[in-house]
Amino acid sequence: MTSATAPAPSLPTPLGGTLVRRVWTPGQDFDPAELRALPSVELSERSFADLEMLATGAYSPLTGFLGEADYLSVIEHLRLSDGTPWSLPITLPVGEEEAGRLRGHLGRRVRLTHGGAEVGTLDLTEMYAARHALEAREVYRTGDEAHPGVAALYAQGGVYLAGPVTLFAVPRGEFARHHRTPSEVRGVIEARGWQTTVAFQTRNPIHRAHEYLHKVALELVDGLLLHPLVGQTKGDDVPAAVRMDAYETLLEGYYPQARTLLSVYPAAMRYAGPREAIVHALSRRNYGATHFIVGRDHAGVGSYYGTYDAQEIFRAFTREELGIEILRFEHTFYCQSCAQLVSPRTCPHPSGQHLVLSGTRVRERLRAGEALPPEFTRPEVAEVLRRAYQS
Ligand code: ADX
Repeated sequence: MTSATAPAPSLPTPLGGTLVRRVWTPGQDFDPAELRALPSVELSERSFADLEMLATGAYSPLTGFLGEADYLSVIEHLRLSDGTPWSLPITLPVGEEEAGRLRGHLGRRVRLTHGGAEVGTLDLTEMYAARHALEAREVYRTGDEAHPGVAALYAQGGVYLAGPVTLFAVPRGEFARHHRTPSEVRGVIEARGWQTTVAFQTRNPIHRAHEYLHKVALELVDGLLLHPLVGQTKGDDVPAAVRMDAYETLLEGYYPQARTLLSVYPAAMRYAGPREAIVHALSRRNYGATHFIVGRDHAGVGSYYGTYDAQEIFRAFTREELGIEILRFEHTFYCQSCAQLVSPRTCPHPSGQHLVLSGTRVRERLRAGEALPPEFTRPEVAEVLRRAYQS
């Protein structure tokens, strides 16, 4: 029998072949109430976000916090010890004292808490010493503690706990309406019949250069997964609630609803630039995306990384290994002479015609109560930001 309808979408396989799912379901394996007697480990905000990313399969094929062999392999070779591409050490740090308390429990299950509440378990298979200096140099490409990722690294404990995790319940949090696990995002993509989906990572308020990237990409693929990171960010980044507000406002007026999906990405930001771009892309493949946008200085901070380092680093892998197509964009800005958004690839005019605002400059303007130019930000978004900064 033939059918005139479009073929069912064939979503990319998750990295490693299967979508990891380690969220506890009633009747499974153990009853959380029986675990009270076990020792517990309190998770930081970042580790709690990692727990969710691991347990929902966003970090497939990882099933838990990395053991030492994978940790060193990721740092030195950009791969897990079995050769799978992976670029950020997903580790669970504790201090020496806590490590001493847990040593007798090696090989057993421990409870994980966050804010004192029980959130999951870790089957403690290994404990090992963190190599902070090596990690800083290789992952962040700097030992400078002014780098927020390096500062966070040095502030955390020197012993890493490893092993498979279980999460008791997906924390839907303050963005419940937009909170979807990888399998839920895959479900939406399937239901909408998108053959190809481009994912967009962001930690900043949406501006017109972002919108330009989205719309150029939408000329090429069926669906757009807007995937703002809402986990922990550095203190002076715009809070996630304000950014989500801006997204909702803009989507209403300027995006094709049936071809756009706004969903949150719960991970914490590392500011590891190129290294983070790889995990950002691989993880979006797990969410079902076939394409991923990498623009200028992706996941960067200050001037630690070259403008296109986060694009270059993907050369370390074959297309097949990545399993997701990288859409590379050059620096995009508004040109007065072209009267539109352009990049050095499309605009012949001198830089005096270009409106370029850094994130720092935008925040300065907002704090000073100054308006953002409409060529940089849509007025609706400028208004959301203005209100947030005034209050
Ligand atoms: S990031 O830390 O999440 O990368 P941001 O939200 O600013 O920060 O960027 C989201 C994505 O858009 C990244 O891929 C980034 O490279 C890209 N991007 C942001 N601004 C521009 C721009 N003006 N030109 C080209 N790409 C950009």
